[in-house]
Amino acid sequence: MKKYFVPLCFVVSALISCSKDDYIDIPVDEDQTVVNQDNNINNDLSTDNLAVDTSILNLPGSPFNYANILLPNFFLDNDVQDEDNIPNNNAVTDNGATLGRVLFYDTKLSLNNTISCASCHIQENGFSDPNQFSTGFDGGLTGRNSMGLANARFYENGRFFWDERANSLETQTLMPIQDLVEMGMSLPELEAKLAQEDYYATLFTNAFGDDNVTSERIALALSQFIRAMVSFESKFDEGLAQTQDIDDNFPNFTTSENRGKQLFMSNQTRCFDCHATNVFVGDDARNNGLDAIITDQGVGGISGNNNELGEFKVPSLRNIALTAPYMHDGRFATLLEVVEHYNSGVQNNPNLDNRLTQGNNVRRLNLSDTDKQALVDFMNTLTDEEFISDVKYADPFMQ
Ligand code: HEC
Ligand code: HEC
Repeated sequence: MKKYFVPLCFVVSALISCSKDDYIDIPVDEDQTVVNQDNNINNDLSTDNLAVDTSILNLPGSPFNYANILLPNFFLDNDVQDEDNIPNNNAVTDNGATLGRVLFYDTKLSLNNTISCASCHIQENGFSDPNQFSTGFDGGLTGRNSMGLANARFYENGRFFWDERANSLETQTLMPIQDLVEMGMSLPELEAKLAQEDYYATLFTNAFGDDNVTSERIALALSQFIRAMVSFESKFDEGLAQTQDIDDNFPNFTTSENRGKQLFMSNQTRCFDCHATNVFVGDDARNNGLDAIITDQGVGGISGNNNELGEFKVPSLRNIALTAPYMHDGRFATLLEVVEHYNSGVQNNPNLDNRLTQGNNVRRLNLSDTDKQALVDFMNTLTDEEFISDVKYADPFMQ
């Protein structure tokens, strides 16, 4: 798909001069599930949006821009583009993501109307949960630590969850709803419940052309909203915009932050070999030596492949300072503890990734305290205050 993107965009630019907004302007097949790709097609759109009961929902008269977010050029390079997992049949649209936003914040998605996606994916925490395990609709705890959602759309193999058990975001988004701990609903119950709400009739019509509430559309809309959650306005991004070269010292960084950046990309730590590209994301699940004896089987528990036991998704480190505690089981409370793990705590096991080994042994990093702090300081530059306070990702319900 990506191979066709550049030529198609040239065609599109020639026709409608997509100079600035060409990035997510991916042409979609005729038999697309999603309509209203272009606001100009339907002049009634703002009327439709106004029809949503303003005593229930605080939505703008015409939708926020989710489909054509202007990303900096260093998000458009091949390394990052190769990570993009937007499928051909679910391009982000403004009205689709708006519906997704309402669904994301709606407690009606849980059996007893107590829990929404946002209960465990909190915006100010980079859409993760500060608790080690999250509490579901009936008071039960999740088996793993909640995951931050910033830039979730950039993960090349397109798989989701720590153990990568969902093979697409469209599959993933319906799973928490049906999870017996998290939200406890069946899909037929969910469709019937949401169809009773007038505001969904309007929002589904805006997004999909009629008011039919189906779980497929719910999955598409939630996925659009999550893929629209791009974070690109951190201190790191400001520095990269100034130098255009990640290897250069950034003028807006402190000495320690620049030292941390250099260490992160060095052969001494090899952090950047697993948390790669300007999005700082993995290309595949890996074992980073948390346990000598595997307790959580991770990817291997799903695939049945012994070589994948204890392997976990390598999530984006963007906004990592906000998403404590860390790792699939939330075992580390601080980034300094994480750095100490890589420095001296990596446990040997048959599936330990070879980036963390030296011969048959674990590779120790021998970092000084100053260097450990520098790595932490660098990771703190990946925090994006704009993203976590942006109203277009915030709760639209009036309460
Ligand atoms: C009760 C807490 C809870 C609720 C409610 C919840 N989640 Fe999650 N979410 C989690 C946990 C915990 C994980 C990690 C689980 C795992 O990997 O086994 C997770 C993982 C995810 C991921 C994977 C991210 C990645 O990079 O792989 C996505 C996407 C996600 N949730 C979206 C949603 C959506 C959409 C909803 C609402 C329909 C939702 N979540 C509801 C706790 C929750
Ligand atoms: C061999 C690949 C690899 C290398 C090298 C690596 N990591 Fe990781 N990293 C992972 C994996 C895999 C996870 C998730 C593991 C889990 O949760 O079980 C992870 C998780 C993390 C997390 C927690 C993410 C979260 O959302 O909880 C941080 C922070 C982190 N790594 C920082 C670093 C730093 C700093 C370095 C260099 C000192 C580094 N990593 C080197 C693979 C790697």
